[in-house]
Amino acid sequence: MFEHLKEQPADKILALMSAYRADPRTDKIDLGVGVYKDASGNTPVMRAVKAAERRIVESQVTKAYTGLAGDPAFSDAMIGLVLGGAVERARVAAVATPGGTGAIRQALELIRMAAPEATVWLSDPTWPNHPSILKYLGMKSAAYRYFDGATGEVDFSGLMAALGGVAAGDAVLLHGCCHNPTGANLTAEQLAEVIALLKGKGAVPLVDIAYQGFGDGLEADAVATRAIASAFDNVLIAASCSKNFGVYRERTGILMAVARDEGEAKLTQGTLAYLNRQNYSFPPDHGARVVTEILTDPELRADWEAELEEVRLGMLGLREQLAGELARLTNSDRYGFLARHRGMFSRLGVGPEMVERLRAEHGIYMVGDSRMNIAGLNAETVPVLAEAIVAAEKG
Ligand code: LMR
Repeated sequence: MFEHLKEQPADKILALMSAYRADPRTDKIDLGVGVYKDASGNTPVMRAVKAAERRIVESQVTKAYTGLAGDPAFSDAMIGLVLGGAVERARVAAVATPGGTGAIRQALELIRMAAPEATVWLSDPTWPNHPSILKYLGMKSAAYRYFDGATGEVDFSGLMAALGGVAAGDAVLLHGCCHNPTGANLTAEQLAEVIALLKGKGAVPLVDIAYQGFGDGLEADAVATRAIASAFDNVLIAASCSKNFGVYRERTGILMAVARDEGEAKLTQGTLAYLNRQNYSFPPDHGARVVTEILTDPELRADWEAELEEVRLGMLGLREQLAGELARLTNSDRYGFLARHRGMFSRLGVGPEMVERLRAEHGIYMVGDSRMNIAGLNAETVPVLAEAIVAAEKG
């Protein structure tokens, strides 16, 4: 049987992670996979996570199954964090999932069950696993223009023109904040125009929010998701706790589905529980329990928010330093967008040859489309990267 298997394409981001690990150079710089790193290159367990884990170890009396949808307290806490009361609670169905990717997968499966002919629209570019999962599920997809590589900003007129092709019942994936891979985000005014257009089309938004708290702050980063959630009858929201709680390996995420009314929410809730059962039965609990403990305990929550804010401000500082160095070295503002971008990533906007030169000649690893993980830098490596970019530009 197994002889019939075909080699599968390697995931670009994960392949880069292996290539970096195999590189013997000691001065190499990893700007690849989206994992937060502090100035020493470590990905620490957040203080509140450690404290919550200690409490759970002490107080947990059973490891028996939770429900198929996970612990309802986790859903309530996450709905509060992401939606903040923008939608009546009774209209929201929710299931815990293995990470944000699990939530995306369940969202797409739900769309396929409800509307098998729907096209799912993805920004061009987007996180490479979005089209990959869609293809795997055999679903129809289309791309909408998003980014202007020449300016480093959103190509808004291109985006609106492309979304003009959305048909009634299509799903449109939007990044809730901190667009991955570009770092370029819609303004509030632009988002309002997108919402009006998609409402007019009768589309269903699917929001992927994986970096809440990494852009402009925990509340500010939820504004777009809340505006979308409150504007439509049906919205899907896939949220990840991997990055903002730093619980990557615990696989902690949630899929929320905003329904038209309470009755439709119950039907959706049952379908989501069924989907969990078919795919992996009960979702993982440990990370979800840690997140719930943090979000519901004022002291832990305050400490988590403070640490997350330090992380966010650290990345903003690095962005400004990098944009400043490049302005100085190039005597131009052409990399000024790096300071305006938000979140963990920025797309530098250079070709694959230059990305390869940066890797081969300078030991700097970024994704082939020139996506950089800003958190892979520190105050000492920013000037090294800036010099390398300028050198690689010259060829
Ligand atoms: C990324 O975009 O690098 C992260 O979301 C990690 C991943 O799973 O690809």
